[in-house]
Amino acid sequence: MKLEQRKDLLGLRELSKEEIESIIDTAVPMKDIIKRDIKKVPTLRGKALITVFYENSTRTRTSFEIAGKYLSADTVNLGVSSSSVQKGESLRDTIKTLEVMGFDLMVMRHAMSGTPHYVSKNTNIRIINAGDGANEHPTQALLDMYTIKEKKGTLEGLKVAIIGDILHSRVARSNIYGLSKFGCEIRVVAPSTLMPKEVEKLGVKPYYSLDEALEGVDVVNILRLQKERQQQALFPTLDEYASLYIINEDKLSRAKEDVLVLHPGPMNRGIEISSRIADSTQALINEQVTNGVAVRMALLFLMMGGSRNEIAN
Ligand code: CP
Repeated sequence: MKLEQRKDLLGLRELSKEEIESIIDTAVPMKDIIKRDIKKVPTLRGKALITVFYENSTRTRTSFEIAGKYLSADTVNLGVSSSSVQKGESLRDTIKTLEVMGFDLMVMRHAMSGTPHYVSKNTNIRIINAGDGANEHPTQALLDMYTIKEKKGTLEGLKVAIIGDILHSRVARSNIYGLSKFGCEIRVVAPSTLMPKEVEKLGVKPYYSLDEALEGVDVVNILRLQKERQQQALFPTLDEYASLYIINEDKLSRAKEDVLVLHPGPMNRGIEISSRIADSTQALINEQVTNGVAVRMALLFLMMGGSRNEIAN
């Protein structure tokens, strides 16, 4: 199946390797558009996009909005905190209300896993999952994969360490689903309290020692501690967490010399990543953000009915 034939993008688990490659390939010319002086093509003129975020966001929401605008779609953000949701309107009624306004595509983030899947069954609008609880954040993983491929030339067979709050991380899950399709060796590193039970069933190898996990890796992807999803104290103090799991120059010396350092943001500097590494040339954190716009342009283009020939207009 091609992405264009799917109604929704809910996760990377169900996407094929070919679909992921097609999105990454389509994002390449989109990045050229972002670099132009006039960053606008008429590809999605007459199409309407709405972002509906029940959780906070800087990068994902803004990049979808600007991606839509660069492609000439009409983009609207529903400010959930100032909407009729606060008067008790149900999710189902909110979605129906937006559907009958004529939106073609909805980008949705929700704290509860599975919400975009529920919404997808109850609306004709196409849905892109912008993060559902601890389940998936497919567009983050796609931009991570784009960034890795841009730098390494390939995704095939790379050694990737994903470090931190694996238990609560939708970014980790989507990266695992995506990178597994390219034969990557995926190491997940966390204190035992932040490691999901039976994580091996996802096809990854768990590590509890950062030093061991970083030995010879091509890519380090550092996760944010999801304090908002932690129901109980899962490690003694942030200082103790940092003493064992922070990525700094000393730890990183165990990885390959040309290791790439990724972080989806927002970062907790001094806890997950030292400022020296975050601001170093090894870190691709700002490039990930730029690539996020390109990847989201590619997704909107593929899902809202653009044709390849129109990109150059
Ligand atoms: N990486 C990411 O999802 O960032 P935001 O929460 O700012 O969208």
